[in-house]
Amino acid sequence: MNILCIGDVVGANGCEALRRVLPELKRQYDAGLTVVNGENSFEHNGIVRQSAAHIFASGADVITTGNHVYRRPEFYQELERNPYILRPANYPDTAPGSGFCLVDLGRVQAAVLNLMGVIYMEPLRNPFDMADHLVRQAVDAGARIILLDFHAEATSEKRALGYYLDGRITAMFGTHTHVQTADACVLPKGTGYITDAGMTGPQQSVLGIRPEIAIAKMKDLLPVRFENAGGRSVVCGCVFTVDEQTGLTRQAQPICQMVEMEDQKGDHK
Ligand SMILES: [Fe+2]
Ligand SMILES: [Fe+2]
Repeated sequence: MNILCIGDVVGANGCEALRRVLPELKRQYDAGLTVVNGENSFEHNGIVRQSAAHIFASGADVITTGNHVYRRPEFYQELERNPYILRPANYPDTAPGSGFCLVDLGRVQAAVLNLMGVIYMEPLRNPFDMADHLVRQAVDAGARIILLDFHAEATSEKRALGYYLDGRITAMFGTHTHVQTADACVLPKGTGYITDAGMTGPQQSVLGIRPEIAIAKMKDLLPVRFENAGGRSVVCGCVFTVDEQTGLTRQAQPICQMVEMEDQKGDHK
């Protein structure tokens, strides 16, 4: 079985690119499970009900998120309502939503986990301890496929967690940096791995933002209004070919597809 993981979808441009490309990607790779990080899918940062609905309509089975998940208070009830939209599990227990879900794939049960790093990020609970807890929960629930989106800044923290979980989960894909890393592989004990799946959004940008705005913020250190870039989009992710019997990965293959786009208006169709 193939599992398709797609990195952070940014704004209307990223949502539209995903809608155009994901159905074909799912056919091409015969994806049995598709997980998309949607934390930046709303045009004005964060994620909202409409952008989540757009990602599901494009073909995602589960949406994962990260540090932008709580930008829009109106989304909190959606996090409580929809078990297939995850937030990092190491937020406080009182935070809306969950970082764990089960997906019934018929022949096999899959658990999808979402965690956030703590290096150069908010001081959430230790992701290693939390990962132990979530893996136990997945195994107890009978899941043979266990997939983790680790949303983190530091490459070292991501790689360390990958090795820590090697042989215990099916695959881990990193998100948050919006730039795909060149290290997709199968770790020694059989866990599929990529440090960062990359972005789904405007190619000529600074993590999705118009470059001149990012330059103004960093050069002059004055507040700016973020605006997403437009034009050609990339759709980046990773395909894990997994053995349903062992729950381990045979092959990890990064994907990155260009999509020619006219500028989007900022609405989610
Ligand atoms: Fe992001
Ligand atoms: Fe992020």
